[in-house]
Amino acid sequence: MTQKLTQNELYQQIRCVSHEIRNHLSICDMYSQIIRKNLEKSGIENPSIENALNCIQKSIQIIGTNLLDLKSLNSNNAQIVDFKNLITRAAELSKAYIVDKEIEYEIFVKNTDNIYIDENRFLACLVNIIKNGIEAIELRGNIQILAEVKDKTGIIKISNNGKPIQKDKQQEIFLQGFTTKKNGCGLGLAICKNFLNSQNADIRLVKSVKQQTTFEITVPVYSEN
Ligand SMILES: Nc1ncnc2c1ncn2[C@@H]1O[C@H](COP(=O)(O)OP(=O)(O)OP(=O)(O)O)[C@@H](O)[C@H]1O
Ligand SMILES: [Mg+2]
Repeated sequence: MTQKLTQNELYQQIRCVSHEIRNHLSICDMYSQIIRKNLEKSGIENPSIENALNCIQKSIQIIGTNLLDLKSLNSNNAQIVDFKNLITRAAELSKAYIVDKEIEYEIFVKNTDNIYIDENRFLACLVNIIKNGIEAIELRGNIQILAEVKDKTGIIKISNNGKPIQKDKQQEIFLQGFTTKKNGCGLGLAICKNFLNSQNADIRLVKSVKQQTTFEITVPVYSEN
């Protein structure tokens, strides 16, 4: 049976769910810190565990940012961050979505500069785009990330060689709710475009043909005046 909620009841429910998510996030956060400390104490150096812990902690922060949105405290927390560093971290985070597939990454960042952006939200955007690429690949394929700073703009091209987007659907992919996936929400690209546009940045589909689907993100570099 479906029940209609009043607006107040809905807000109340959102607050309760956020609260519970936050509690469990802090448990994940605490235990990942404990694992890190124990590794250090035992003198164990394991880059793979180290990387996994970094990814877990970054994801926790990103979820935390989203929870603040639910509380309508969604002030953008922009800071000066290194363009190349963000790209490599996004690539690392996205690898968690590779399950039962063989996917090779090719990452080339020609040069770098500072950008002024909410790090968590920008990372979440990049991860969304790479995740779509991973999902388009059936079993085996490549994700290519090529980036450079040119004319005071950071340019990131994210490509994959999975199933392309139908020509007649290419206009619709940024619309909220457009999905071709059984379990998709059709939100990823719409959220990315909204956020990027609010930062004077942008995303577009460059092409989607049999061998390659490429998205391009452009973001202004930070300038002091
Ligand atoms: N790299 C890609 N390769 C092929 N199709 C893509 C790619 N990126 C997006 N698409 C198409 O665009 C649609 C919309 O993508 P979007 O990320 O907005 O939603 P979704 O992935 O379906 O669901 P979710 O809300 O979980 O992200 C996808 O369903 C898919 O059809
Ligand atoms: Mg998606």
